[in-house]
Amino acid sequence: MASAAPAARDRKRHGRHYTPPALARFLAGRLLAQVPRPDSGVLRVLDPACGDGELLFALRTEAAAVLPGVRVALTGYDLDATALAVARARDEAAGIGADWHVGDFLTVAAELGAASFDAVITNPPYVRTQQLGGVTAQLLSKQFGLRGRIDLTHPFVATLPRLLATGGVLGLLCANRFLTTKAGANIRRLLLAELVPVELYDLGDTKLFEAAVLPAITIARRGGGVDNCRYVSAYETAGDEIAEETDLFAALLGEHGGVVLHNGRTFAIEVGTLVTSTAGRSLEIGVVATDLAGQRRATNRRRAREPETVWRMSHAGVDRWLAEIGAATWRTFGEVARIRVGIKTTADRVFISDRWCDVEPAPEPELLLDLITHHDLEPWRITRSRDVRVLYPYDRTQSQRTPIDLHEYPGAAEYLRANKDTLAARSYVGASGREWFEIWVPQRPQLWQEPKLVFPDISDRPRFALDRSGAVVNGDCYWIAVPELAELPADAERLAYLLMGVANSALGLRFYDAVCGNRLYSGRRRWITQYVSRLPLPDPGSTAARAIIELAREFVDGRASGVSASVELDERVAAAFGVCGG
Ligand SMILES: C[S@@+](CC[C@H](N)C(=O)[O-])C[C@H]1O[C@@H](n2cnc3c(N)ncnc32)[C@H](O)[C@@H]1O
Repeated sequence: MASAAPAARDRKRHGRHYTPPALARFLAGRLLAQVPRPDSGVLRVLDPACGDGELLFALRTEAAAVLPGVRVALTGYDLDATALAVARARDEAAGIGADWHVGDFLTVAAELGAASFDAVITNPPYVRTQQLGGVTAQLLSKQFGLRGRIDLTHPFVATLPRLLATGGVLGLLCANRFLTTKAGANIRRLLLAELVPVELYDLGDTKLFEAAVLPAITIARRGGGVDNCRYVSAYETAGDEIAEETDLFAALLGEHGGVVLHNGRTFAIEVGTLVTSTAGRSLEIGVVATDLAGQRRATNRRRAREPETVWRMSHAGVDRWLAEIGAATWRTFGEVARIRVGIKTTADRVFISDRWCDVEPAPEPELLLDLITHHDLEPWRITRSRDVRVLYPYDRTQSQRTPIDLHEYPGAAEYLRANKDTLAARSYVGASGREWFEIWVPQRPQLWQEPKLVFPDISDRPRFALDRSGAVVNGDCYWIAVPELAELPADAERLAYLLMGVANSALGLRFYDAVCGNRLYSGRRRWITQYVSRLPLPDPGSTAARAIIELAREFVDGRASGVSASVELDERVAAAFGVCGG
């Protein structure tokens, strides 16, 4: 069947990533598994952004098998007349007689009667704020009661619950980001407000979908009691050698997880239930406080900083483990540390180079500061592979952002003026009341010279390192200024080693996956503030924590290394939280 393959540019603007047929059939099948047989004998189904109709056709085919004798009435909307022409042609060839409409569904939705459909199947457009434009994004946020950074998926999902009859079911295919990101709270809220999620499939890096985003399928019912929502995830794993190929879709429906081979790649499938509320949180981050007042203070501080709860999978083993860790948690990283993202110049070509010696006119050497990037980070230590330096146009004797006086630095002044067109084109820098030669995220200049913990934003494993060189940290990393961890320098330093010890351990990684769980392709993870701040710390005064601090110090000084030292660390961290192994 012909397919309306749209051009790549248009694709991005309108979020046109069509659902491959096998995934469409899986989504339709899961939706139908939850749809009650209609008394009227007619199942009314909507796709509000139907493209060439793949999802609706898949649903009709699957319904013929599982709901024999039921007539399926299909309705599709799309902005794209060309795609709809393909849908119509497919419809005519199969003699279906669906209802196709060209139109902007976000405008049309309000005109449709409440409870008009028994099922909505959709892969809504995914268009980020940058592509939507700030003004449109703001209007949509206001119109649909959304918060924060939205993408076009959010208003689409907002229109749908009202259109479903009681007992009706939504089958949603969208980026899995909504499960764990701050912005995703919009979707999480919408799926919980009037709907009840009943099945969730985080399809991770399975590449079942061609778009750059990792997909998830949510099946949610309108009305009815609170169910245990089945939660299945599939992510690539290094895995054991498996000889036989398995149908991944069939494996996703299995009662228990396991490891399967699909298209030559090995996937770990985990099966559990969805935890959406804060109820489980006390398990994750419970505190053993020395006195009640201390406990109250810690709890209040935690509430103030905790971002809205992300969705995570629960299964008995993990829950028990988290409860044990929670009981032994003194504070979370977020409670003791201020986590900062590195600098962002938004003109790296001008500000950052590893060949300043070739640059003419030459900025003064005292303004060219060593720059730590994600390439330089190993667990525990910084190993700078290239002499990358940033032209840092601030007075580092000042605690607040104070740009240099260009008269005092004629070399830098000449160099920056030679690049003035590029720099001044960053109109947002001027609009925020800064000089045209400033960088976008400068931090507090005086803090750079302090010891700091640095870790990369994206990494398959934790790589928390200690820097004492006074270098600046690039925007592809995060950092924590050690003196800010505690009032007494000795306490601050001990806490820094403890943070590193927990973060770089097997327990840290497992905790991260269980609680934060935002994974990208090939096991890479995002170590952003929101997640790192949830990692737990044992009481630094305990004997077990002191043992971690001691070993972390040895790693940093180069006195410990290798597998046996790592195993020793994993054991010490596990012991500090009262759990076995790593
Ligand atoms: C991700 S594609 C999904 C298409 C099809 N349902 C599928 O799964 O293959 C999203 C579709 O949304 C359409 N679209 C974008 N904005 C829209 C709007 N405001 N109203 C209706 N459709 C829209 C695009 O033209 C595109 O066909």
